[in-house]
Amino acid sequence: MKIIMLGAPGAGKGTQAKMIADKYSLPHVSTGDIFRANLKEGTELGKKAKEYMDKGALVPDELTVEILLDRVAKDDCKNGYVLDGFPRTIPQAEVLDSELKKLGDAVDLAIDVEVPDENIVRRMSGRRACLKCGATYHVEYIPPKKEGICDDCGEPLVQRDDDKEETVKKRLSVYHEQTQPLIDYYTKKGILKTVDGTKDMKDVFADITAVIDAV
Ligand code: AP5
Ligand code: MG
Ligand code: ZN
Repeated sequence: MKIIMLGAPGAGKGTQAKMIADKYSLPHVSTGDIFRANLKEGTELGKKAKEYMDKGALVPDELTVEILLDRVAKDDCKNGYVLDGFPRTIPQAEVLDSELKKLGDAVDLAIDVEVPDENIVRRMSGRRACLKCGATYHVEYIPPKKEGICDDCGEPLVQRDDDKEETVKKRLSVYHEQTQPLIDYYTKKGILKTVDGTKDMKDVFADITAVIDAV
């Protein structure tokens, strides 16, 4: 199954995508995680992406699309995947659709995790992330078992550079302008499902599994 996670920055796409990936044995593919991993390793791609990410802007489509298509062409993606943070623009969605179409394939489900802007800034300031496995925590709402350490792989957790209040506000406005139109795009294709992302993490996940199991 090919699933797309939609939603504002901080809506909980990554949190839920990881849980979906575990339950349904699908790879979790996050373009944001790929960029951050490259940044950590000091690659050219990482340096280029950082220029945009630090400003809260989107990385250009050409760069992002190539990375994503490379990733989903890997063997582990043969039976499907959960995309988190891609597509983020209409052109990205169109490329994905046309590439899948060439393979006689299509996206099965787009899940919009809905959270109002007011809740977002609060969530971001408490977020801590694992750059190794992509797990996400919140110091108050979803703390790790041991402070500052990833439950899954034992790496030290970090605060993301783009989680400063000003950058979060910019990311939100970019989301409304460039990514929200995708909700219409997938609604027209008849594959959009919306879940209430303000609920407790486990309740959001229960709503999501109900949606997936109904496909
Ligand atoms: P990316 O890493 O994708 O960031 P984002 O979309 O801004 O989303 P976030 O990761 O910030 O939020 P999330 O929805 O995953 O929330 P999370 O689960 O962490 O992208 C970063 C940058 O990379 C972009 O700005 C752009 O520059 C670039 N980029 C990436 N993809 C691109 C693309 N396709 N095209 C162009 N550029 C691209 O949850 C947030 C917090 O809330 C956490 O602390 C979590 O623990 C907590 N939380 C989660 N669920 C709940 C809950 N139910 N209740 C309470 N707290 C919760
Ligand atoms: Mg994320
Ligand atoms: Zn980890």
